[in-house]
Amino acid sequence: MIRGIKGVKDIPPDQMSKWLVIESAARNLAQRYGFREIRIPIFESTELYVRSIGGATDIVEKEMYTFPDRDGSSLTLRPEGTAGVVRAFIELGLAQSFTSRKLFYIGPMFRHERPQAGRFRQFHQFGVEAITTTSPLADAEVIALLWRFFSTLQLPGLSLELNSLGQASDRPQYKTALVTFLQEVKTPLCDNCVRRMTSNPLRVLDCKVPSCRAATQDAPKILDYLSSESRNHFDQVLTALQSLGIPYVLNPRLVRGLDYYCMTTFEVSCSALGAQNAIGAGGRYDGLFEALGGKPTPAVGFAVGLERVILALPDTLIPPPEPWVFIAAFGEKGTQEGVRVLESLRKNQIQADTDYNASSLKNLLRAADRLGAPFTLILGDDEVSANQAILRNMQTKEQETLSLVSIQHTLTSRLAISQ
Ligand code: HAM
Repeated sequence: MIRGIKGVKDIPPDQMSKWLVIESAARNLAQRYGFREIRIPIFESTELYVRSIGGATDIVEKEMYTFPDRDGSSLTLRPEGTAGVVRAFIELGLAQSFTSRKLFYIGPMFRHERPQAGRFRQFHQFGVEAITTTSPLADAEVIALLWRFFSTLQLPGLSLELNSLGQASDRPQYKTALVTFLQEVKTPLCDNCVRRMTSNPLRVLDCKVPSCRAATQDAPKILDYLSSESRNHFDQVLTALQSLGIPYVLNPRLVRGLDYYCMTTFEVSCSALGAQNAIGAGGRYDGLFEALGGKPTPAVGFAVGLERVILALPDTLIPPPEPWVFIAAFGEKGTQEGVRVLESLRKNQIQADTDYNASSLKNLLRAADRLGAPFTLILGDDEVSANQAILRNMQTKEQETLSLVSIQHTLTSRLAISQ
């Protein structure tokens, strides 16, 4: 037997209703905020992700699914969506189109991480990217959309954390101060952080190892190194969030695991989840377009981990199944009529099904029960000869005789009532 891959999950049919609830909430809300859907490829050139996410990040160093194409060029399964959206935006010339500057996507991403609850190797993101504006109101707008998405889905225990990484020009001075501080700390840092001190010192701040956290307790804070322009931008984001009534906490350790960020960064966590409690995150990435060969173009966005949303989704939000009717047709004439009735109901928007493995009324009723049918339409030879059918309410066991011509009409009203 061939098994599925570790950390790569099937979504069985009985979980699909949850997925449809969150995907339709994502689509509806994104559209309400003016975003239009884009579908980008699942794999791209490796170079795209290395240049976007950064060579010294965990994603690029350890987590990408990279493989040679038949011509020897290197391809990678997308570990995230922002890089692909920016590549497409530049390549398709979407800057020329006023209506294609606010984009959203839903789809699978791939990272070779150690699988655990809420962490997978294939997972799904809903992401949005608001491109071409430097306005801090755009930062607040995407954060508001993120917050509205989670509140619409009634996720419990949400917390929004914010930080600003400043502009690229604010960072060298801060990095020097941080590295000087790290070189002097007494508590030993983990091997990873010792390595990062030279390759990517900001990442030391969000190391989860307790001794590293203790050692960096009094580390210099990036907010103290922002230029007045960066500080002003951040203050305007905070003011807008306050006026929208969106609660936040400042977290100077929030440096994010992708190198393209500048200015505002944010993350939402959900207390209903375990260790992997980051449910959505994002920020501004004004330098990425140039890094990928485009014109300087400001942008801000986020991505949500949909598996984590599923884990935190309250059961009350799952809609009841659509009402439908089971056709219990048996005998020669009954079976023939059953085929016709099934097709005619479906043609007229009524959900209907049967079980071709059952041929006696007893077995057909048992199949209807197992499938959870609210109604069964019984069609035997006797009924068909009299131009009739029997409609059985599977819950109350009540039965009524209908004329064949009135089936459509009666079922439309019965199924609507049972909703
Ligand atoms: P990210 O923080 O790497 O950001 O991922 C966003 C979200 O994806 C996380 O908060 C988490 O919910 C989910 N996620 C990440 N890795 C996994 C995994 N292995 N298993 C399950 N869920 C996971 C980005 O991807 C950026 N592209 C976000 C962004 C868009 N920034 C600007 N625009």
